[in-house]
Amino acid sequence: MLASKRILLIIGGGIAAYKSLDLIRRLRERGAAVTPVLTRAAEEFVTPLSVSALAGEKVYRDLFDLTDEAEMGHIQLSRSADLIVVAPATADLMGKMAGGLANDLASTLLMATDTPVLCAPAMNVRMWDHPATRRNHAQLAADGVRFVGPNEGDMACGEYGPGRMSEPLEIVAAIEAQFGYGPLNGRRVLVTSGPTHEPIDPVRYIANRSSGAQGTAVARALAALGAEVIFVTGPAEVAPPEGVKVVQIETAQQMSDAVEAALPVDAGVFAAAVADWRVAAASDKKLKKSRDGLPALEFAENPDILKRVARMGTGRPALVVGFAAETDNVIEHATAKRARKGCDWIVANDVSPATGIMGGSENAVTLISDEGAEEWPRMGKDAVAERLALKIAEALAV
Ligand code: CTP
Repeated sequence: MLASKRILLIIGGGIAAYKSLDLIRRLRERGAAVTPVLTRAAEEFVTPLSVSALAGEKVYRDLFDLTDEAEMGHIQLSRSADLIVVAPATADLMGKMAGGLANDLASTLLMATDTPVLCAPAMNVRMWDHPATRRNHAQLAADGVRFVGPNEGDMACGEYGPGRMSEPLEIVAAIEAQFGYGPLNGRRVLVTSGPTHEPIDPVRYIANRSSGAQGTAVARALAALGAEVIFVTGPAEVAPPEGVKVVQIETAQQMSDAVEAALPVDAGVFAAAVADWRVAAASDKKLKKSRDGLPALEFAENPDILKRVARMGTGRPALVVGFAAETDNVIEHATAKRARKGCDWIVANDVSPATGIMGGSENAVTLISDEGAEEWPRMGKDAVAERLALKIAEALAV
């Protein structure tokens, strides 16, 4: 897929540098030529010898290496590539890039280039959350730098949160997408997400605790693989991802209509926590306390959006993925739900309060398909989304 592409790989100084060795291998397997550049700090984590052995090319390390200048000046080095990948992109490197500093080979190359740049950040969670990194990230994105990750999860420093560098295959997918070779290029995928709000009267509604985090992460991961994503979302706590078509709705009925309008699609991922019932006759005036006692709400059943799409004949998406939020007998209930709804896969998770999953940043899921139940380790919702997106890409490729 990457045959004849030249990638200049800048390896920054962080523990995640070890993953860059695997990244080199994966890129070369796909036919790319990798020219590695190591920062001083990176040499504390990986050796120039192992990097050059894997890349099959000389490692560039020093700005003032005159032999290199004679062979290839840093300007030319930075421009001869089709893409510059910075992995790991440390807080320091991101700061230099955002501030326009050029005091070593890596930062000089990044200043001198007119080639697209993709960063895979990796750093401690506090450093990632620090206002300076937030500013640098926003500035770099505004300057046109693309990002992959970071993922959430356990970190080498013992803390937990966003800051882990994306896995090599995720970085490869982002590189392929950059060249227009995303495995989901040309594919249209629908994602439903968030809660729905079912009005009681103009000021009150029935809702649930879904934050929309998992659905948002799935939409982002699918878009990163090159899919055209139609993101139908209820009033979620998290902001919708960039680069997707966002359709904001409130009620289950509106979600159903928006899904209908989005068809046909190659795949549908139904991550929304849709209210099963609505108030049959929501009042158009605010209900008032009355002497006649408590108001009696009568309910009507909402359309089962997933079931309707999964069971449609012609025009059914090639892959229909549902979610099952359960609090007990998770696999048993989710397996039955898959059969009842008629979807291809169910992503089942245990949302009993003790797990902290609903509204939290992590998820522990089991993927149920006709091949049985595949249990995934507990990981960040972003990592679950990326793994699911890669799996969807594989399924649509056959
Ligand atoms: N779903 C949907 N439309 C609905 C209800 C659910 O599309 N009206 C989808 C959800 O987005 C999810 C899956 O169906 O992908 C399962 O949702 P869940 O609420 O767990 O299923 P229910 O059918 O409501 O089953 P339960 O009896 O457990 O509430």
